[in-house]
Amino acid sequence: MVKICCIGAGYVGGPTMAVMALKCPEIEVAVVDISEPRINAWNSDRLPIYEPGLEDVVKQCRGKNLFFSTDVEKHVFESDIVFVSVNTPTKTQGLGAGKAADLTYWESAARMIADVSKSSKIVVEKSTVPVRTAEAIEKILTHNSKGIEFQILSNPEFLAEGTAIKDLYNPDRVLIGGRDTAAGQKAIKALRDVYAHWVPVKQIICTNLWSAELSKLAANAFLAQRISSVNAMSALCEATGADVTQVAHAVGTDTRIGPKFLNSSVGFGGSCFQKDILNLIYICECNGLPEAANYWKQVIKVNDYQKIRFANRVVSSMFNTVSGKKIAILGFAFKKDTGDTRETPAIDVCNRLVADKAKLSIYDPQVLEEQIRRDLSMARFDWDHPVPLQQIKAEGISEQVNVVSDAYEATKDAHGLCVLTEWDEFKSLDFKKIFDNMQKPAFVFDGRNVVDAVKLREIGFIVYSIGKPLDSWLKDMPAVA
Ligand code: NAI
Repeated sequence: MVKICCIGAGYVGGPTMAVMALKCPEIEVAVVDISEPRINAWNSDRLPIYEPGLEDVVKQCRGKNLFFSTDVEKHVFESDIVFVSVNTPTKTQGLGAGKAADLTYWESAARMIADVSKSSKIVVEKSTVPVRTAEAIEKILTHNSKGIEFQILSNPEFLAEGTAIKDLYNPDRVLIGGRDTAAGQKAIKALRDVYAHWVPVKQIICTNLWSAELSKLAANAFLAQRISSVNAMSALCEATGADVTQVAHAVGTDTRIGPKFLNSSVGFGGSCFQKDILNLIYICECNGLPEAANYWKQVIKVNDYQKIRFANRVVSSMFNTVSGKKIAILGFAFKKDTGDTRETPAIDVCNRLVADKAKLSIYDPQVLEEQIRRDLSMARFDWDHPVPLQQIKAEGISEQVNVVSDAYEATKDAHGLCVLTEWDEFKSLDFKKIFDNMQKPAFVFDGRNVVDAVKLREIGFIVYSIGKPLDSWLKDMPAVA
């Protein structure tokens, strides 16, 4: 029986391996992690991550051919193929701080693989890594190999959180990069055979190692660039009276452009986009390509601009002060159908409003209070490190932030409400009831364009929707970022 082990039981390792186990019943899959609480959660009824459909997949295979364990060394020792899906944070100190990927976790995983292995293995990069990481890993493995043969493959993951299971069942493509040697091609074939259990072979793209590594960074940079493009357009729409949804539709019907990823919003978040673009910028700079680096920097700058522009709009609309005012925050996750808050735009918006002395009442259907408080107190980039290593700001935010368990409680007696995640349940709230229980004038700031602005204006709200023609009230109070 072929044995697969995945180091890192996170948002990528857990769902990817669960689907692999489901689709390949004759392969034994072990997902291992140094974090005991995480592994305990994978073995419990409350999985460590929320992802539609995931629980069902895990329940079908767990204990049969899918195992979650903290015994990292045992499972690596027994495996034929070892995936490495550990976190790759942005460096916060030293050379490349604020841009380069910190490969500490990757390197320690590679050294451990070399230490415990007694038979040849295929080592697969699943994490998103800088170009030529495979070469570095190869050096660590071969210099410690004791005669064992390791083949390194790059197999970046393209799943999107919130639709991970659907994406894993029907990926647009699977990408496998490897060495152009007989052994390298044999390793590519072995991994392709695993995916071929459920992915049509023509959708499995095989490339050299460096193309596979760079393609992942490039794909995320292109996706983020589309969001920043439409968000830059949203600011112009507000200034001119155009409607960003209409503009995006008109632009997206051009088949060369396509309609996806053209929704204007308060900004992109998630663990990957910013981190991967920073990484790309660093690689461009290291290769003496400042113009290319500056191009990608602008994608992040526009994203920061959009978040701050939104928060400033809230403050300026409410007579230029939110001091002591209750503001409801509906949604904290970086997008709907996930409980993930890494780099969520809600962090920047909330911190900005807290700095202006607002009192926030936050509700998200999937994010726990402890997580929200941690996110609002954590130093930049620290979220990608284990909890004990995260630096928490000394000054407390507790008095200004309240986390509640439903939207009606959040909005009761509030002066304004901000929609920061596009959860479906926010579309069907009883806004008449909410309006009746809010201070007047009552403001809605829709950072995701999910509410029916016409209906809300009829109820009596003053409504701001990103990139839409402004209420006359808001026109007189421009927000400068
Ligand atoms: P995560 O932080 O959820 O999971 C990483 C896990 O690795 C953690 O549980 C950590 O305890 C574990 N770990 C770290 N060092 C270890 C070691 N030496 N031995 C055993 N376990 C170790 O991270 P996530 O989101 O799963 O991301 C993993 C990689 O995949 C990152 O490089 C990320 O950029 C990439 N990626 C993430 C996507 C996402 O949607 N989250 C999508 C595609 C790629």
